[in-house]
Amino acid sequence: MCGIIGVVGSAGALETVLEGLRRLEYRGYDSAGVAFQDHGDLWSRRAAEGTRSVEALVETCGDAPATLTVGIGHTRWATHGNPTEINAHPHLDCGKRLGLIHNGIIENHAELKAALEALGHGFRSGTDTEVMVHLLEDELRTDGDLVAATRRMLGHLRGAFAVAVVSADHPDQLVAARRVSPLIVGMSDGVSYLGSDIPALMGKVDRVFAIEEDHVVDLRPGSIVVTNAEGQVVSPQSVEITWTSEVAEKGGYADFMTKEIHEQPEAIAATLASRIDATGSIQLDDMDFDEEDLRQIDKVVIVGCGSSYHAGLVGKFAIERWAGLPTEVDIASEFRYRDAKFGPSTLVIGVSQSGETIDTLEAIKQARKGGSTVIAISNIVGASMTREADGAMYTRAGLEVSVASTKTVLAQVIALELLALRLAELRGTRSAEEIEQIVRELHSLPAFVAGLVGATKRVEEVAAGISSARDYFFLGRHLGYPVALEGALKLKEISYLRAEGYPAGELKHGPIALIEPGVVVVAVVLSGPMAEKMYSNIAEVKARGATVVVVAEASDQVVESVADYVLRIPDVADFAAPVLAMVPLQQLAYAIAKSRGIDVDRPRNLAKTVTVE
Ligand code: M6R
Repeated sequence: MCGIIGVVGSAGALETVLEGLRRLEYRGYDSAGVAFQDHGDLWSRRAAEGTRSVEALVETCGDAPATLTVGIGHTRWATHGNPTEINAHPHLDCGKRLGLIHNGIIENHAELKAALEALGHGFRSGTDTEVMVHLLEDELRTDGDLVAATRRMLGHLRGAFAVAVVSADHPDQLVAARRVSPLIVGMSDGVSYLGSDIPALMGKVDRVFAIEEDHVVDLRPGSIVVTNAEGQVVSPQSVEITWTSEVAEKGGYADFMTKEIHEQPEAIAATLASRIDATGSIQLDDMDFDEEDLRQIDKVVIVGCGSSYHAGLVGKFAIERWAGLPTEVDIASEFRYRDAKFGPSTLVIGVSQSGETIDTLEAIKQARKGGSTVIAISNIVGASMTREADGAMYTRAGLEVSVASTKTVLAQVIALELLALRLAELRGTRSAEEIEQIVRELHSLPAFVAGLVGATKRVEEVAAGISSARDYFFLGRHLGYPVALEGALKLKEISYLRAEGYPAGELKHGPIALIEPGVVVVAVVLSGPMAEKMYSNIAEVKARGATVVVVAEASDQVVESVADYVLRIPDVADFAAPVLAMVPLQQLAYAIAKSRGIDVDRPRNLAKTVTVE
């Protein structure tokens, strides 16, 4: 959460920072701010106007000096301190010589603040971040060296941070550092850049370097020097940026969510592309371990958060069915703090669009430390998780900007199913012909998804019929259950309506008490043995007055007689059906949110990448 960007040595530095902030809004939009060197002083502006903070910041920068070449910018997702201008970054030291931006949480901020106040520092904000700038102010008194002072400042901190500093007294220099939270740097045409993630620097550099924990970066025009905790110079890993800056534009769509829903066929096709080699074997991506390790696996644990966790639940069915391996799926923030047993025979799969979500990142680090083989499934090449894992598999969905995940979830399901097939292949639990048949079936999905995303009329009618309700239950069984969870999450996050995803069989164990006229039940009925049971559960909620929407396959003959509204998807094999069933639920959430006048790309209180616990 929070987006950061910095530029050293460019005549258009302010424009670059503001443009970067526009692209980083998805990391938080509670406030935005910039600080630049200005002839021996700092020039700084901040704005806190909710979802239009960056826009308001751009307006306040209208009077900027034309000569700014070195500066930093920040979009905030508030943790400590209200989303007000006073709490907006950059934060300044007492002498207003230093400007500092931060992504993360300083856990020992209260004790540091007390100690700094005792030394005479005056605090202006209610943030955890501000302690850093005052610590740095003190550390600079030792020798005036900004890099060394930053390194000493890190020694006082507990928590997670990517931090960048601009100083009025250190012309043509920015200094940055990180622990847990991500930080990348890059250089082009004599200009040096830093950012929280690739969108910050898209269109400016074609290669970025990922900074390791507790390393400090010294950025100057035409030079970037990275040093480790001991002050030795190190060479960071680099990653090529293949995305162009156009991928961060809406491309004629009303919003990013619509664009990304329409990009789903391509996201699935790209994730499936070239996965079978000349010998008929499944190809994963960067797997830095012996295949023998995978053959020895006797248990799989999938960890993720939010939509990525839901994709993991679909993946569980595939791994258990095709590879015959017991598979657990856990919410990463819970998994981290239980006494899970690791070891070389457990494969841990971290699923994350961003590859940066703190809980998933820390969960896989823990698993690796415990001796397990770890694979990260991510949409971002070179993201922290892919560097921490033994192997990475990419979803190739392209940049996803809208806070609500759409195309990346579908691509994650595909990636997990491919991984399940690879495990089946290695363990000999499925024949080459069976695997080929399954992959063929998966290849039919882009065309079916294209058909669904192109047809929104029926979904809009259904949305119009149910959007006055306040309470929604999403029910499913078996492979329909993760779809129900994902449908409920989409609706609540972008429409602000109460929506609960539930396994339909659990309904009678409590939640049915809430069913009454006015409540909407959205049921996901996939063909197979669970369909009849779903229809019994639908009868139970109808008998209690609920309005029922059913997502059903084309051949379902029963649905029209039991549902108030039906959303059809094509008939496909059961393992492929969740991918299709998620699409009308994304569209339904979108239509309801739009009818409520909500900015779907920037729903309140949310950020796309969650880098704080
Ligand atoms: O980047 P990640 O996939 O790790 O993010 C995890 C969740 O924050 C994310 O899936 C979130 O639930 C969705 N954006 C909701 O649509």
